Amino acid sequence: MSQSFDPRALRSAFGAFATGVTVVTAMDENGKPLGFTANSFTSVSLDPPLLLACLARTSRNFEAMTKARGFAINILAETQKEISNTFARPSEDRFAQVEWKVGPFGAPVLAGTAAWFDCSLEQVIEAGDHVILLGRIEAFENSELNGLGYVRGSYFVPMLAGKAVSVASEGPICLSAVIERDGAILMVGEDTKSLPGCDLDGGEPLGALQEALEHLTGLPVSIGFLYSVYEDQKTQRQHIVYRAFVGEGAASGGAFIPLENLAAQSFDSSATADIVNRFSSESSLGNFGVYFGNETSGRIHSIARKA
Ligand SMILES: Cc1cc2nc3c(=O)[nH]c(=O)nc-3n(C[C@H](O)[C@H](O)[C@H](O)COP(=O)(O)O)c2cc1C
Repeated sequence: MSQSFDPRALRSAFGAFATGVTVVTAMDENGKPLGFTANSFTSVSLDPPLLLACLARTSRNFEAMTKARGFAINILAETQKEISNTFARPSEDRFAQVEWKVGPFGAPVLAGTAAWFDCSLEQVIEAGDHVILLGRIEAFENSELNGLGYVRGSYFVPMLAGKAVSVASEGPICLSAVIERDGAILMVGEDTKSLPGCDLDGGEPLGALQEALEHLTGLPVSIGFLYSVYEDQKTQRQHIVYRAFVGEGAASGGAFIPLENLAAQSFDSSATADIVNRFSSESSLGNFGVYFGNETSGRIHSIARKA
């Protein structure tokens, strides 16, 4: 008998492995394009050229994907987080929202990706609650754009981290955090809500932000991935926003506002509203089987140029 584990704990441990993000596409027997977001892609062999991705048995397109003549792996570029979300959410027509063409071997190939591989379906291998789609590469293209990253349920964007460092070296910045706990986000302010954080003029941003958040909440805080970098057009101030996590217990400052009540709030700026709304729509992606996590984004609104 095999050992059984708490699936949540197992998912969470799998999530420690940082991956890229792909969209696996195929044509069904009526020529309708199908696709889903997958981070289970692995290169397998150079000769013969093979790759694989794992497909959940619960997929709405399980039959069509496993019976198709082939499939394509589209490796998303770092600006394509929205496409990842589109292909991970239930939707009538995911392809209406993206630019694509038919690949040389017949599977849909998305525009603007880091690379794509159009494959014949070599084998479908039974693998527990998933199957392994083993593909033989019939054609591929490599754009040399950077790929989007994914780890512990969060997207990461190598370029964005670099921008944050250059923004931080340009002068005073506002640091803030999106802190989600049990379906609610920590906000500060009475009538007008803002994200909790601090101003920084020189020094080390992560330590300063952690200290400010611990001071505000009276709880242990850990800072996660970069969430957003932007310039507030009105005040001309640079903002860097991180994901952060707080420990259990009541926060001594700020208030946790349930995601479903956020729409009724007024915010200090349209950027705050934008960040909070994105966060809440991405969290509704919820639990992705093995790929469970809290969705976060790396998004650049606009970065002021140095004079
Ligand atoms: C980053 C990320 C990676 C994912 N990786 C996989 C994967 O490798 N295999 C899989 O079957 N589902 C994966 N999912 C979940 C599917 O994309 C999601 O369940 C989708 O709605 C399935 O669509 P379908 O039922 O139309 O096939 C992933 C989701 C995300 C956000």
